[in-house]
Amino acid sequence: MTNFNLKTILRPNVETMEPYTPILPFEVLSKQLGRNPTEIIKLDANENPYGPSPLVAEALGKAPYLHIYPDPESCELRESLAEYTGLPAEYLLVGHGADELIDLIMRLVIEPRDAIVNCPPTFGMYTFDADINGATVINVNRRPDFSLDLDKIESTQAAHAKLIFVTSPNNPDGSLLTDNDLRRLLALPMLVILDEAYIEFSQPEGKGRIQWVKQYPNLIVLRTFSKWAGLAGLRVGYGAFPLDIITHLWKIKQPYNVNVAGQLAAQVSLADRERLLQNVAKIVEQRESFFSVLKQFDWLEPYPSHSNFILCRVSGNRKAATIKQQLANEAILVRYYNSAGLADCLRFSIGTAAQMSRLAEVLQRL
Ligand SMILES: Cc1ncc(COP(=O)(O)O)c(C=O)c1O
Repeated sequence: MTNFNLKTILRPNVETMEPYTPILPFEVLSKQLGRNPTEIIKLDANENPYGPSPLVAEALGKAPYLHIYPDPESCELRESLAEYTGLPAEYLLVGHGADELIDLIMRLVIEPRDAIVNCPPTFGMYTFDADINGATVINVNRRPDFSLDLDKIESTQAAHAKLIFVTSPNNPDGSLLTDNDLRRLLALPMLVILDEAYIEFSQPEGKGRIQWVKQYPNLIVLRTFSKWAGLAGLRVGYGAFPLDIITHLWKIKQPYNVNVAGQLAAQVSLADRERLLQNVAKIVEQRESFFSVLKQFDWLEPYPSHSNFILCRVSGNRKAATIKQQLANEAILVRYYNSAGLADCLRFSIGTAAQMSRLAEVLQRL
């Protein structure tokens, strides 16, 4: 018998972590609902209803080098991204989704018990990765209109954190961070990670601050191909980093983090961006008309959004959990929240015009 005792070697923060709740694969879900996958209207994960450019499948079908390891530096893709973002390739690093970059940034600076600032309600991966990295999370809640509480962030406790995550447009409400708030954050002695996963849906109001990375030594901007380019399943994100920071990230990233298919698909998407950005424009148009539809219900309070989803508070004597279930029975999947700041909320990702009319019609019947 060995004396091995896992408890003596397991990292304490991992031992106490809650397990991640995986989403159900589409096929399993369709079986559960007793529906054909094509009948399901999936509006729960901010995916792109139009999918990728058709040129992506064509290019992947013809890809000659799937047996060769990918380019660890994603050189060609970074050149295309330089042209797309207007920022030289040396500032850019590609990740296995923006998610990988969130973890990578923490691994660069976090020692167990170091503090990070999180501004809920927001995207859940910041605290997920903080837990993995043993960071202490200082939550500075957003105000009721989802704007940042800058005074609290500037208070001594939070201002001693190593980094802060801010999201613009924010998930789940779709609000934008103002220039003034961002400048105040950048004046703090911490790293500011601005997550612009949904920036393409915010034009022209949300210009995007990727260019600011050249001026501020403590600003990182994250982006992704998952949303505007419909590549969520292939996992490609990128970040813009000050040169002093990116040098160290190159040392710690997994060499083959972005696979051949992902790099190729992202390249093709950038080349075919006109078509993809037309899809983005359609989604934005749909968002605006669906917002007007939601406003007509006296039991729904939608929040104005600059993204590809709309957050809605359910009021009156209705319950968001019940509405979510009733929609699921009709094969329409939406995201339900009941956490702090999001009591009785639903988030509707924006689908095609046909999907949104169906959703509106079902909501009217409820
Ligand atoms: C704010 C935000 N950042 C990042 C991501 C993840 O991006 P990726 O798919 O590139 O990992 C999401 C996905 O929903 C998100 O909402």
